[in-house]
Amino acid sequence: MVVAGALVANGLLLLAQRSRPPELAGMWELPGGKVEPGESPEGALERELREELGVETVVGQQLAGDVDLAGGLVLRAYRVELMSGTPAPLDHSDLRWVDARGLVGADLVDADRAWVPELSGMLRQP
Ligand code: CDP
Repeated sequence: MVVAGALVANGLLLLAQRSRPPELAGMWELPGGKVEPGESPEGALERELREELGVETVVGQQLAGDVDLAGGLVLRAYRVELMSGTPAPLDHSDLRWVDARGLVGADLVDADRAWVPELSGMLRQP
């Protein structure tokens, strides 16, 4: 399983720009990564966000609908709350906070598009 986090603050959603692999580099995603053996999905997501963004988070509600990825992986997204730190692109090319319009206009990785309607509703409207 792969887990990804929707970090919303002040009506804006944090998007992260992938640096790899070449076919996905430059595209934007909800930050996250693979669940390792022995981890819960929530624990894995908190670890990934600590490693990739340098922040402490608490994982909240799951977004609706898991997404099947190539290779038999399943992608699941959760709301996450920022507890401490300021997100930094430790593993990504760049970070960006988007409102509803910015999310709809972003060059998102395909798998994450499933959550655009649900996420847009949580964000500041233009
Ligand atoms: O960092 P780690 O190697 O654990 O995982 P990753 O390379 O970030 O993600 C594993 C797989 O999930 C890749 O195929 C990503 O493209 C996919 N993924 C995704 O589709 N959407 C996300 N928000 C995060 C990962």
